[in-house]
Amino acid sequence: MSNAASTTTETSFDRFIRKTRELFSRESDPEKRWVSLHPFMKELLEDPNVIEASQKWPVCQRIDNRTQNLLFYEDPDYKFVLNGMVFSADRDYGVPDRLHDHGHIYTLYGLLDGKQRILRYERIDDRSKPDYAEVRSVSNSECGPGEIDLVRPWEIHAEASAGERVVALIARSERSGGFLQGRYVPEKNSYWQGYGPIQVPTPFYG
Ligand SMILES: [Fe+2]
Repeated sequence: MSNAASTTTETSFDRFIRKTRELFSRESDPEKRWVSLHPFMKELLEDPNVIEASQKWPVCQRIDNRTQNLLFYEDPDYKFVLNGMVFSADRDYGVPDRLHDHGHIYTLYGLLDGKQRILRYERIDDRSKPDYAEVRSVSNSECGPGEIDLVRPWEIHAEASAGERVVALIARSERSGGFLQGRYVPEKNSYWQGYGPIQVPTPFYG
């Protein structure tokens, strides 16, 4: 074994963090940062060791309209985080109560295991009435492992799954849970705000 091989101990999780920090150190524009992050996320999603590690991650519970997110990493300098989300096979994650935005942050949502429908909506009312929002569907696609969705600030979306365990890796520009995010109920044209996911610190490799 060569020295080079024996000293290569960087995991793909460590590589993702290192590359993201390097990118953020040279690029300050949020849009460019989050578009450029795509291949780093892809690499993480395609690593069999990551898929294997994810089999031990706990299912995220939903408590009072807030879901849990596994918190793997929060960057002390650039504030980005890496979350995981595990959807249970025996629960129906339908759309009506899950349509939401992420407020002001950028999110890169990558599917690691299982299939989901990713739905995108746009707002069509003039935002003049509180607690009211009209939205319409703009896309509805079935996505599988390795697929990545960039959710920009305020973009309205939902992930729907049922009957299979689904695991997602989610990079965010900031830890969520401490600020309000929009929630939409299209059948009622209603809108409300609530706090985002409850963060559950979790070791990535168990
Ligand atoms: Fe979301």
